[in-house]
Amino acid sequence: MSKEVITNTLYKLFSLENKVILATGAAGAIGSAIVKCYADLGAKVVLADYNEEAMAEVEKEIKANGGECTCMKLELPKEESINEVVDKTIEKYGRIDVLANIAGINKRTLMTNGSEETFDRIIGVNLKGSYLISIKVAKEMIKLNETLPEEEKVHLSIMNVASYNSVMMLGGNSVYGMSKSGVAAMTRSQAIEWAKYGFRSNALTPGHISTKLTAQLWDDPYYSKYMLDRIAMNRPGYPEDMLGMAVLIASDASAYMSGQLCIVDGGCLAGGQPWEI
Ligand SMILES: NC(=O)c1ccc[n+]([C@@H]2O[C@H](COP(=O)([O-])OP(=O)(O)OC[C@H]3O[C@@H](n4cnc5c(N)ncnc54)[C@H](O)[C@@H]3O)[C@@H](O)[C@H]2O)c1
Repeated sequence: MSKEVITNTLYKLFSLENKVILATGAAGAIGSAIVKCYADLGAKVVLADYNEEAMAEVEKEIKANGGECTCMKLELPKEESINEVVDKTIEKYGRIDVLANIAGINKRTLMTNGSEETFDRIIGVNLKGSYLISIKVAKEMIKLNETLPEEEKVHLSIMNVASYNSVMMLGGNSVYGMSKSGVAAMTRSQAIEWAKYGFRSNALTPGHISTKLTAQLWDDPYYSKYMLDRIAMNRPGYPEDMLGMAVLIASDASAYMSGQLCIVDGGCLAGGQPWEI
């Protein structure tokens, strides 16, 4: 097979050229790796995050590599802020092809020490925020599609970010797990209710990834051994390990895939390290 045929085939499947991608959590460890990769593949990326300083650094890197992006401050789950970001994105680029709901937070605490404040904060950002922005984007795209000729209609792809904790629990992670199980349920609901508009929704589902969010665990010898024992590949995941799946979900290569938890976990949920028998 010639290099040219391979390149053309890959290009048709995975190119993001001219796709408009709105990504929340774009300044974070996983989010910044994903948006840089999307920009490298030709997407016009809207970076939406609460952390403006970190977002500006990501913007600088993307632009230095010749990519196209715009930063917008977003404060999930505030509806006013969500509406402003989505409206401005459509004003600037005319449409949204991919919504990547990457923003997320956690606060580890045993359930007996739980509080309404912890519950509302984590569920608010991880679940309510993703829910509200998805609805706003989907409605805009449905409205816009009514005015567009067939060949220009938007086939919105939503990439939610679920977690190992959508499936299995760790101690002290109850509300985070509830939020990410909710994200899994939301992904399936979006897939079945919005297929009639030509939209699809899937959840990038990372295992134990080494980032700021999980530093408390990876920096502790007990917890890091606990996690490594449960990862078949015997190493932490890194943000770069998420890129292949993030591109698959955003690109036309996944045109017939919807409602899935797309697990990228080094063989963790498969059973982790085997016994030496
Ligand atoms: N790190 C892991 O092991 C792991 C595993 C499974 C799932 N995830 C999920 O992956 C996603 C990214 O995680 P990460 O490890 O890169 O974390 P991170 O803390 O590096 O990034 C999270 C980003 O979300 C932004 N954010 C937080 N609250 C916000 C709000 N209210 N409004 C707008 N933006 C807000 C932060 O500013 C930050 O840039 C999260 O949804 C997380 O739950 C991470």
